[in-house]
Parts: sequence; C-alpha cells; structure tokens
Amino acid sequence: MNDRGKGSRSVHVLFLASEVTPFAKTGGLADVAGSLPGALKRLGANVSIGLPLYRAVKEGTFERQTVFKGLEVPVAGQTLLANVQAAETEEGVPVYLFEREDLFDRPNLYRTAEGDYYDNLERFAFFSLAALLFAKSAGVPFEVIHCHDWQTGLVPAYLSTLFRADPFFASTSTLFTIHNIGYQGVFPREKLSVCGLPPETFHPEGIEYWGSISLLKAGIVYSDAMTTVSPTYSREIRSPEFGLGMEGILQKRSGVLHGILNGADDSVWNPATDSYLSSRYDSDDPEEKIVDKAALIREAGLDPSLLERPVLGMTARLSHQKGCDLLLGILDELAAMKVGIVILGEGEPAYEDALREAAEKYPGTVAVTIGFDEALAHRIMAGADIFLVPSLYEPCGLTQMYALKYGTVPVVRATGGLEDTIEEFDPGSRSGNGFKFGPYEPGAFLDAIRRATDLWSDREAWEALMRNGMREDFSWNRSAERYLDLYQALVAARRRP
Ligand code: ADP
Ligand code: GLC
Repeated sequence: MNDRGKGSRSVHVLFLASEVTPFAKTGGLADVAGSLPGALKRLGANVSIGLPLYRAVKEGTFERQTVFKGLEVPVAGQTLLANVQAAETEEGVPVYLFEREDLFDRPNLYRTAEGDYYDNLERFAFFSLAALLFAKSAGVPFEVIHCHDWQTGLVPAYLSTLFRADPFFASTSTLFTIHNIGYQGVFPREKLSVCGLPPETFHPEGIEYWGSISLLKAGIVYSDAMTTVSPTYSREIRSPEFGLGMEGILQKRSGVLHGILNGADDSVWNPATDSYLSSRYDSDDPEEKIVDKAALIREAGLDPSLLERPVLGMTARLSHQKGCDLLLGILDELAAMKVGIVILGEGEPAYEDALREAAEKYPGTVAVTIGFDEALAHRIMAGADIFLVPSLYEPCGLTQMYALKYGTVPVVRATGGLEDTIEEFDPGSRSGNGFKFGPYEPGAFLDAIRRATDLWSDREAWEALMRNGMREDFSWNRSAERYLDLYQALVAARRRP
C-alpha cells in the first residue's frame, strides 16, 4: 500500500462485540473492544460499536438516549421489537446499545452458576440481526463490520445468505476476530431455524460442526477475513492440539487469517495515573510501588512480615484454560517457600472451592477473593512483585502486559500471546522481561517461580528486570495500524470489479 493510500484512513467500521469495557466485562474481549475503537479513531477511522443493553450497562452511570424505537427483528419465527440506545466511550466513539429486556436484562452476561443461559442462541442471533437491520434502517452503510467471537459469528453468515442480494450491503465486508477458540457457540442442529439461516448452510463447509451448529464456525467460514490476537496463536489454532476441531477449516482459510497482537490501554492500566492505587509510580521512580505492596498485604490480610518477601499475584477467570490445576498443584510448595499469594478470580465452582480451602489452610499466606473486582485487579497488579499466568493455552493474554507496565514480573507458560510478549530474563546480559516455562507440569511452573523468587533477592538485578518491562511499548497504536490496513484492503477488494 502506498503512502497516499495510508494517508486517507477514513474507513467506516461497525465493531460488534458481546462485551465492551467499561460498559460490560467478563474478560479480555471487553478490554480489546473498549480500547481498539478509540485507537482506530485516533488514526482517522470512523468507528461505532454495537453491544447488547445488558442489566450491567443499565446499572452503570453512562449517559444514554434512545435513538430508534420499534426495530423489527425476526428471530425464531417471531418478530421481536427492539429499541436502540446510544452512548459514547471516553474517546467519543458512539456505542449503540440493543435493548430487549427479556433477553438482556439479566444478572450476568452469558450464564448463571448453574450453566449457560438456555436461550443464548436466540439472544445473540437477535443481537447480530438487530445490528444489521439497524444499520440498514438508519441508512448507515458500514464498509467493514468487525465481529468478535462466537456471539457475533452469525453476522458474516447473514450477510452471505439472507442479505447477499441486498444492495444496501453490497459494499460491506466482514472481519472476524477469534479471541478464544475454546468458546465455540455450539447448539443443536434443530435450532438452525431459530437463527433464521437457510437449511443449505448446514453442511461441513458451512455452519455444521460435528452434527451440531457452531456460531464460531459461522464466523470463520463466512467472513471475508479473520484475525486472531497473537501471531503464535494464529499458528497454533491450525494444529489439532489447539484448533479444537476448527483446525481443518482454519488451514483451508489460512490465506485470510492474520495474527495481530493485542495492546494494553495506557489510559486504564498505568501505574502513574491509576486512581485505584494508594500510591502512583512510574519507571523513572518505581520506589513507591512498595506502598502499594504494603496496602495489598493489609487489604488481603497477609502476614505483615511478607513485606520483606516476594508476593505473588494472579487474577484470572478460574477455568481450565488459565492453568488453575497447575496452581493448585504447587500451592503447598509455595506456602513452604514463605512467599505471599494473592488470588482474584471467579469461574468453575471446583476451582473456587479448592482455592477457598487453600486460603483456609494457609491463613496469612494465601489470600483468595472469589468474585469480579476491577479495583482489586488493579491493586494486585501494583502491589504484587510477581504475576502468575500459567495458562494451558492463551490466545493473547492481557494481564501479563498489564503486569509489565506495573513493574510486576510475569511468570508465564510459553504459549500463544504469552510466548510473543514475554522473554526469559538473562541475568548475564540483563535482557528479558519475565520468566517462562514450557511443559504444562507443576514442576516446570514451580521452577520458573523459583527462578523469579531467587532473583528477587538481588535488588539491583530485579530492578533492572522491572524497568525492562515498564519501558516496553504495548500501546494499541501499532496494532490499530495493522487493523486499519486490513480494513482498507477489504474495502479495496470489494471495489474491484
Ligand atoms: P481472558 O480474556 O482470557 O479472561 P485476558 O488476560 O485477555 O484473559 O483478560 C482478562 C481481563 O479480565 C483482565 O483485564 C483482567 O484483569 C480481568 N479479570 C479477570 N478476572 C477478573 C476478576 N475476577 N476480577 C476483575 N478483573 C478480572
Ligand atoms: C480471550 C483470550 C485472551 C485474550 C482476550 C482478548 O478471552 O482468552 O487470551 O487476551 O480474549 O483478546
């Protein structure tokens, strides 16, 4: 692409995601969908966001106004009426909120403790169709619809089938981003009619997935191009070990699959400006971090003597993906090492219970908070010395990048985006930003933690390591440029006769 092409960045994009920070969040998808649009806007793109109007959004203090009433959305053989409200992100990106109380005014985004909501297919088919019909009713001809994860996988399928001949969408392309191939939006085949797709889409080159339907597969098959959130994960998911059944179709479409590393939003995750902290600091003056460590030790109820020992932090969805089994497998050894451990998470009940038990077994040493707590997540980032990310697989991972910015040294498993962002520290050359282990085994994890805690006693080397991470650039700008290049290539391809 020549410089002139790059100069004009005014592509018209609709971002569709099932969670967006700060409106509604369960994990990293929300952080990406909340930050990337602002970065794209700064580069000249004309971006809007679409999101369901969940109860969580209503309970927030966001300014919202109704911009469309009575949108007719055909789902499961009925016409559902929807209203559309509009809000704005801090950067002034419009956010369209699709309102339908019976589907979205619920305590959680996707599930209860007992399992997924029974009507998730109806909910996200509704969201996907409503977004397209709203764009059409409002007469906004988006050039690219950028969809994220299975919840929006039907959008490319609708555009390739129901709207294929609709002149309104003739210049609309789709980009589908896979944030996590482990969540595939699988539903029984009998439900195909619920989403309104024609029966001929039910075949192995279409929406069929081992006899069921998969909305993730719909996104993969019908989108014009795809991205995933790190270069290593984009290779991994083409293999049987990581592809979880999607590797075949991904190999087939590998020409349009790109790995673009996520960024970390400096306006949200920055120890120099973070209002959740007792004390703020930066890479020129990291000494104040000790104040945040003392505050975390108090808040978590750890033994005050741990101020003189390494404190390990971990914040994660408590799922198999995040390496909870590895962590549970080494907690006895860690407790014997006289380090502090602060864990924040929620998820699978078995992990929640096991962690609660560990906290009872090691009071003052292991502190566990079960729940979702944005403020505590920030205080762990700042107050811990070491941050643990022992994932079985990790498409990108944001917390290790946040940890680096906070001078909290990551110990990670070498997979996906963790492999791409963390380099083992070399005490000789003092290069590297963390500690990494390969085999998914408790011993390997423990060894990596020992390498970190051993180095921690060498203050000079440790501070060099902290600074290496704090001075790295993980801002969104570079990745946003790559997304914009992709959008523009899609627009150009559609214009060609
Ligand atoms: P994933 O998207 O797989 O959960 P990421 O590392 O990409 O993993 O992003 C996780 C995001 O969710 C981070 O912003 C992290 O701080 C946040 N997070 C995870 N669990 C919790 C929790 N229990 N409370 C607060 N924030 C959490
Ligand atoms: C997913 C992945 C995580 C990634 C996030 C944002 O939830 O599990 O690795 O960082 O999406 O892309």
